[in-house]
Amino acid sequence: MEEKIKNIEAAAVEAVKNAANLQALDEIRVKYLGKKGELTAILRGMKDVSAEDKPKIGKFVNDARAVIENEIQVKNAALKESALEDRLQNEKIDITLPGRAPKVGHFHPITLTLNHIKKIFMNMGFSVEEGPEIEEDYFNFELLNLPKDHPARDMQDSFYITDEILMRTQTSPVQARTMKAHKNNEPIRMIAPGRVYRRDDYDATHSPMFTQVEGLVIDKGITFADLKGTLEVALSEIFEKKVGVRFRPSFFPFTEPSTEVDISCVMCGGKGCRVCKGTGYLEILGAGMVHPKVLEMNGYNYKKVSGFAFGLGVERIAMLKYGIDDLRLFYDNDVRFLNAF
Ligand code: DAH
Repeated sequence: MEEKIKNIEAAAVEAVKNAANLQALDEIRVKYLGKKGELTAILRGMKDVSAEDKPKIGKFVNDARAVIENEIQVKNAALKESALEDRLQNEKIDITLPGRAPKVGHFHPITLTLNHIKKIFMNMGFSVEEGPEIEEDYFNFELLNLPKDHPARDMQDSFYITDEILMRTQTSPVQARTMKAHKNNEPIRMIAPGRVYRRDDYDATHSPMFTQVEGLVIDKGITFADLKGTLEVALSEIFEKKVGVRFRPSFFPFTEPSTEVDISCVMCGGKGCRVCKGTGYLEILGAGMVHPKVLEMNGYNYKKVSGFAFGLGVERIAMLKYGIDDLRLFYDNDVRFLNAF
């Protein structure tokens, strides 16, 4: 009997030592110590043992049980420890790795240029006005002295929605809208930034959609000198360097006289280069003194007040500022390009 118990104990201790994981260990516990386990079976058989041997055998079994239990406990602690160790190894976080920066969007170069232009004019006391991109023919053309059959409309062939409604071809209709919103020859000093649409090709220098900034100033005694001074200051600020301004006679139906405004080339400073095609000047915007008929049609008395207006292309300015030679880059949404700003 003693022999048998010793053997069970030895087998159990051996098995415990070899247990690979907690589950295996539990199976061993059941096998030796459980209700139907081998040691329990011996205790059950005690009724057949002589009264004299009983205490001895009983003690033997209990000692064996204590040994096995202790082994199991030690092994259990060791297995738990190594399981934790494994997890710590596997789930290790290298806190010395650089952080993953979230991708944050940023302003489009046209928006940046536009914001810059807006700020410059706002600092000069201009308000920022808006008008609809789907515009009435009446505001886009007629109130700007371009009646239905006017040949100057041909240059701005556009997308008509009905005979009377079109995608605006210029920001100039905001001039008319702003004038109409004022009474009693009230002074105006405004810019109107926004998108315009023309039936144009899509190439390095054209796009059927582009961005303009319109300007309008009306007050008593506004002269051509005010126009020139304002543009000289604004354009120097836009290009962040002192630029010379040259006025060339031109024609716009809504201004009289009208002028094309050039600046000294921002690339070569006027010496002549590839960008200015050797002329030393860059064509930048159209401007002029508001035509008396336009003032009158929009509720202003041209005998009491006068005004100047101008319109510039934002893409052209952004291209010159950032040295971009293909307009399409602004619209193709290539992130390699956009990330450069
Ligand atoms: N609206 C003109 C265009 O799109 C630009 C322009 C020229 C606007 C002269 C003006 C101006 O206000 O006075 O070509």
